[in-house]
Amino acid sequence: MKPQRLGVNVDHVATLRNARGEAYPDPLLAAQVAIAAGADGITIHLREDRRHIRDADVLRIRGLIDKPLNFEMAATEEMVEIALRTRPHGCCLVPEKRSEVTTEGGLDVAGHRMALAPMVGRLRDAGIRVSMFVDPDWAQLEASAEIGAAVVELHTGAYCHGREGELQRLVEAAGLTESLGLECHAGHGLTFDNVGPIAAIPEIVELNIGHFLIARAIFDGLPAAVQRMKALMRAARGE
Ligand code: PXP
Repeated sequence: MKPQRLGVNVDHVATLRNARGEAYPDPLLAAQVAIAAGADGITIHLREDRRHIRDADVLRIRGLIDKPLNFEMAATEEMVEIALRTRPHGCCLVPEKRSEVTTEGGLDVAGHRMALAPMVGRLRDAGIRVSMFVDPDWAQLEASAEIGAAVVELHTGAYCHGREGELQRLVEAAGLTESLGLECHAGHGLTFDNVGPIAAIPEIVELNIGHFLIARAIFDGLPAAVQRMKALMRAARGE
């Protein structure tokens, strides 16, 4: 089976920092510690309201980690400009409503392909690998391929909330990605308890996991949380 990478999302280290307006805990340090523990990449989401990651964090993390940076962003002109200036390894386009607590559903690529296509083109022309965060739905996969995305990240939130049939939908969607020429990633809501069946899907080559790992780090430390997640992923793939 193809190797599977773990991208660690450090947004909520910044959430904790911002709660007190101090300089700690530092999301850059968290990124470096996660990498030392085996993370294959780092994910950050610069939200429109800057509620966790801030502009200065993006520059520091981009400049000071030695693994790929996956930059999650809303499909807005402001974010495209920041991405073009920062040149992360990858950009993942996500839906963003100011009031939502987290990214609630996938991006409607099929419904907005005309608006999204030029943004994908500009990022791709700059050498950035572009990903679309979508629900496991054929129309979204097909539209993502059509507008030139290299990757789809399948939204695992509904599966993690126990929605019936959702694992099967994810398995089927992942199975369709190769024929569309898309690399397949997955994420949202994954924990030690629910990661196994997702990690076992052969086409999925990257999982992006944040909130659970940072929460777990409070009790076990970040290196132990990252190491255990990677061990569970490997076990699920029979490694
Ligand atoms: N992937 C994407 C595209 C996301 O928006 C998020 C949440 O920021 C994650 C993965 C990680 O989700 P969680 O923090 O629930 O692990």
